[in-house]
Amino acid sequence: MTVPLPLLIQHAQILHPDGKMRPGDVLLRAGKIEQIAPAITPPDPDTIRIIDATGLILLPGVIDPQVHFREPGLEYKEDLFTASCACARGGVTSFLEMPNTRPLTTTQATLDDKLQRAASKCVVNYGFFIGATAEMLPDLLDANPVCGIKIFMGSMHGALLIDQADLLEQIFAKGDRLIAVHAENQERIKQRREEFAGITDPAIHSQIQDNQAALEATQLALQLSKKYQRRLHILHMSTAEEADLMRQEKPAWVTCEVTPQHLLMNTTDYARIGTLAQMNPPLRSPHDNAVLWQALLDGVIDFIATDHAPHTLEEKAKDYPNSPSGMPGVETSLALMLTQAAQGRCTVAQVAHWMSTAVAKAYRIPHKGAIAPGYDADLVLVDLQNYHALTRAEVLSKCGWSPFEGWNLTGWPVITIVGGQVVYEQGKVKTDVRGQALRFDAEAI
Ligand code: DOR
Repeated sequence: MTVPLPLLIQHAQILHPDGKMRPGDVLLRAGKIEQIAPAITPPDPDTIRIIDATGLILLPGVIDPQVHFREPGLEYKEDLFTASCACARGGVTSFLEMPNTRPLTTTQATLDDKLQRAASKCVVNYGFFIGATAEMLPDLLDANPVCGIKIFMGSMHGALLIDQADLLEQIFAKGDRLIAVHAENQERIKQRREEFAGITDPAIHSQIQDNQAALEATQLALQLSKKYQRRLHILHMSTAEEADLMRQEKPAWVTCEVTPQHLLMNTTDYARIGTLAQMNPPLRSPHDNAVLWQALLDGVIDFIATDHAPHTLEEKAKDYPNSPSGMPGVETSLALMLTQAAQGRCTVAQVAHWMSTAVAKAYRIPHKGAIAPGYDADLVLVDLQNYHALTRAEVLSKCGWSPFEGWNLTGWPVITIVGGQVVYEQGKVKTDVRGQALRFDAEAI
């Protein structure tokens, strides 16, 4: 690997680990943050690149802990290169990717294949989940490196669906690796699909896969986690009922996340964008939005993930229920959340905590999630002074659309840095930069 040229970022508003913003300079060398000070004199002006960050805010790079990047097998929707370019544009410097690719990521061999593909084409850092299937239980314990075991309790078909309680219990009972669950009760969904069969209005999706279906699965996962004291993470929590459950009962070893779309979109969005608003778990009511926001502000919800799950416009144009569930998100998540901060619903420091610091801590990723000497130089410079409305034409994800088209957002990344290298600058991705495989072995940070 070639060692990148040192970078000196001058005159930035730097978000420090104490949550305070202070003006200063940051020196990056050999992929690490070397020095942070009110003013740094360039050590050797000829062999260093200087970035004038006047008017910009420097944040730790976003770590997106739930994405579906479709490679191998579904590259017509997205691939690791296009998705990682979209990450760079969105200020996402690391991602954790899900196993529902083809073949499924359920063995050491399929994991190794993904790692190799990512090493050759990802412009940001990468980590992968291993998927739980009935046949491959030993791999769940031994495959490395993985950020955790992904269990689809519902909203899945084929080998990745684990909807039998005894099998679920076997997975919780053995090992100590993090288990991340997509919590929806498949049995209830199945019954309700039959009940509402024939309805093609996509809004019915939120009634079929209703709040109760999500709550029941989350309750079951929580119960098993408590029984075995097993590290559990609830993916894309979507309902007020689950947030209340977590507020009352969440043990120290359980974490949960929410997506920007479950905070900022709701069932009224079906009228706006139809099946483009269809995802699993589905969008909920404005009341759910409000309760999830409060739970995030109160620390009941630990962090934010996008569940970036691209499908082509052609696929999305099918009538419900033949339209696939999922929407892209890595390009817009940081700007969406920073816009909320600009509007006073939270602080910039909270956004960085939810989108970077808390994720690094939960997944035990060493030296990431903060701007501090010795930490990895994964950073994003954002502009909170200007607003820009997202257009379809500028979307970098291969799917070529976003549910947030037309949304006027601030906090867009101006420069994204991965491992001390500029990977995105003023609208352009530097496609020759490569990220690295993440490690998941930090001592408690
Ligand atoms: O809507 C969704 N689509 N939710 C998921 O969890 C999976 C995803 C996909 O892979 O398309």
